[in-house]
Amino acid sequence: MAHERTSTGPVNIAVIKYWGKRDTELILPTNSSISITLSQDQLRSKTTIRASPKFTKTRLWLNGVEEHNLDNNIRLQNCLRATKKLRKEYEDQLSDEIGIDNVQPISSYNLHICSENNFPTAAGLASSASGFACLVYTLSQLYELPISTTELSKIARQGSGSACRSLFGGFVNWQMGIKQDGSDSQALQIAPHDHWPELAALICIVSDAKKGTSSTEGMQNTVKTSTLLQYRINNVVPERMKSMTNAILHKNFNKFAEITMKDSNQFHACCLDTFPPIFYLNDVSRSIIRVITEYNNTTGRPDEFKAAYTFDAGPNAVIYALKQNIPEIINIISKYFPPSKNNVSYFSDPYNLFPNEKENI
Ligand code: ADP
Ligand code: DP6
Ligand code: CO
Repeated sequence: MAHERTSTGPVNIAVIKYWGKRDTELILPTNSSISITLSQDQLRSKTTIRASPKFTKTRLWLNGVEEHNLDNNIRLQNCLRATKKLRKEYEDQLSDEIGIDNVQPISSYNLHICSENNFPTAAGLASSASGFACLVYTLSQLYELPISTTELSKIARQGSGSACRSLFGGFVNWQMGIKQDGSDSQALQIAPHDHWPELAALICIVSDAKKGTSSTEGMQNTVKTSTLLQYRINNVVPERMKSMTNAILHKNFNKFAEITMKDSNQFHACCLDTFPPIFYLNDVSRSIIRVITEYNNTTGRPDEFKAAYTFDAGPNAVIYALKQNIPEIINIISKYFPPSKNNVSYFSDPYNLFPNEKENI
């Protein structure tokens, strides 16, 4: 019997950014973060995993290209080890209940893993989040693990920090935790995807090129050299976590927008405060910030906003806005940045269908 599962996983775009690890092995962050999981209609990872006693080694293909030296891919190995361990425990429990001959020892089989993203990989659009969330979720399905989504988020976190948030739809909090073993560093849902249906996300692809500095490398250099990051961790994020949670729960777009833009700005300021500095934003990204700022000025009030920009570790913009304003924003963005091969805007509702009927497509 073939043991194979396929599932898809969504990206999430943070409004309070995760940037910095206190433990690089377990992937424990220096601050908590909040994100919104986006619909899979536009951006998603899709992963198929097959287990077989005939496979002589575990292999991984990413976007059609085989990744070699998997033993050196510590994060992948950590996710595999954690899920296999749970599967083994489950098999032992089943053996006791129904007899060893009736239990398939899938935990001992090698795996063939095939994953593809339908959007630019490693370009600041959270491919590591959808990729590792999808990997760990597919493993949990393959191994039929009786495990909660929050527990699964702790395993996905060890693949890529931001991946722990993609296991939930809607509005998600990654609690940094305080324990050294990471057992309390987990994702929790603040509100489900249909909590704020008027909210939408517009994704502006400025460049689909692979970033020069990976998130992993970039954030560790920031931790080592930036004094601004220490200020952010201690004096800024804790208060923002509370205000952002309230803004989401009360669907207060003005507050949501203000914190989102300020937090994106501060994250990129920390990148600039890294030595040597890291530049993720480019001239087009900065022009988008100017255009959205001008657009917000049309409300005539400094505390009233119609759109909020945010940028991850790359030049691509995500604009959160109420749906009623999206056509106007698309008009403005396409006027200043006419769509071209490398400048495409995707429109996406910020909700997801994961992990439910969209799995196993
Ligand atoms: P991004 O901004 O896209 O998240 P990162 O630098 O954080 O960029 O991570 C990119 C890395 O994530 C890739 O080089 C790859 O190792 C991993 N990754 C991306 N997509 C997948 C996937 N579908 N399955 C497994 N790993 C993935
Ligand atoms: C700017 O989760 O990609 O997107 O844990 O090293 O894999 P690793 O980093 P990653 O970092 C994401 C950084 C960010 C902000 C965020 O998503 O919160
Ligand atoms: Co990433």
